[in-house]
Amino acid sequence: MSTPSQSRTWAEPFKIKVIEHVRIPSQQEREAAIREAGYNTFLLRSDEVYIDLLTDSGTTAMSDRQWAAMMIGDEAYAGSRSFYRLEAAVQEWYGYKYVVPTHQGRGAENLLSKTMIKPGDIVPGNMYFTTTRLHQELAGGTFTDIIIPEAHDPASLHPFKGNVDLAKLESVILEFGPDKIPYVSLAATVNLAGGQPISLENVRAVRELTNKYGIKVILDAARIVENAYFIQQREPGCQSRTIASIVKEMCSYTDGCTMSAKKDPLVNIGGFLAVNDHAIYEEAANLAVIYEGLHTYGGMAGRDMEALATGIEESLHEDHIRARVGQILYLGKKLIDAGIPIVQPIGGHGVFLDARAFLPHIPQEQYPAQALAAALYLDSGVRSMERGIVSAGRNKNGEENKPKLELVRLTIPRRVYTQAHMDVVAESVQIVYSHRDTIRCLKMIHEPKYLRFFQARFEPLG
Ligand code: F0G
Repeated sequence: MSTPSQSRTWAEPFKIKVIEHVRIPSQQEREAAIREAGYNTFLLRSDEVYIDLLTDSGTTAMSDRQWAAMMIGDEAYAGSRSFYRLEAAVQEWYGYKYVVPTHQGRGAENLLSKTMIKPGDIVPGNMYFTTTRLHQELAGGTFTDIIIPEAHDPASLHPFKGNVDLAKLESVILEFGPDKIPYVSLAATVNLAGGQPISLENVRAVRELTNKYGIKVILDAARIVENAYFIQQREPGCQSRTIASIVKEMCSYTDGCTMSAKKDPLVNIGGFLAVNDHAIYEEAANLAVIYEGLHTYGGMAGRDMEALATGIEESLHEDHIRARVGQILYLGKKLIDAGIPIVQPIGGHGVFLDARAFLPHIPQEQYPAQALAAALYLDSGVRSMERGIVSAGRNKNGEENKPKLELVRLTIPRRVYTQAHMDVVAESVQIVYSHRDTIRCLKMIHEPKYLRFFQARFEPLG
């Protein structure tokens, strides 16, 4: 199919066959709901939400082809035909040799961390992700951030804010020694930096540098298609390349990937670990039987593996990814035009509000992003997510990590909402912005030990 020129209006490359009603809860209902949820949007019931931008994870609308594929899922315990179809799709589109299905991304992170990390190891990565870092730590490793400094600056317009700072990576390797570094953990795109991509040139350079020291590179491929789209749009020499070829080239510079299939691969549940090294595969496949299930289903139903195999292929369609990222750019641009402080450039899976700039009267220790997410819900029933000090958790000494980025993520599910929903969201953000000085600080009144942002509870101060 020919691609319309960038200057023409685009529309979603699908029409809607099944719909799900949504309801706007009343002001009174919203007030009661957010109080009941301890001012944590993770603790709201979805029935209390109007437009759900909590996450793009597992919230995808599947296509008719994916639903059809589910009907031919093979539910055999061992050697399911659907596993072999998934394995072939991973080999064809990402190029890795061996595949272990897992129930979702963190299942793959667990297998990878247990297989590759020894106590005392250092894992350099282009910014932490919550579950990824926790599995590295639980395996005895320590995460070290090697992303370029621009990533921590919401206003920097660097086109590839997900890039690795190569000098920093080399200094980490020289400081700790290559034997202490099981792999470099490379994310595409970088979620907590605001959905920012890494350039093809940078991935290639990371490969060259790690080759010099015999260190492996493992990709977090959950949003690799969105990353490839930014490469196609922004990187010199890539404009006429297909998304599929960029994705495959990125993977070719790495030794394996963990995949949360709930993101770019367009399914509601599932994931996998894929590697090229047979010994690592064997160890991970063995651990899979403890934590996930047999290595030919790993926590997934046969039908889910079918939907995923189809979803991987659909995720690489040029018109799909252009409209997917296009919807986020549409919302982001509206907010920029209205003078709302957001992370720029606009990311691949969501628009990230800069809560520090939005609520300068709330100090970071009183959870500005958490308070802003609650205020947005109160205004319109739009659910977003905190990505700041609450998400960052505590360090090994028990002190709160204080990330430079204090953000609220408006995460757009794939193929679910229309442009009109984006208009409603933009309007609500503007209304909240207009009375931002009335938003109150929060106090944390319940703090779970692991990944506290999911279940923490708060109350307003003063
Ligand atoms: N890596 C990245 C970059 C992620 O964004 C996620 C999940 C995971 C790994 C873990 O995958 O959820 O399938 O176990 N991110 C979700 C989010 C939760 O909302 O950003 P999972």
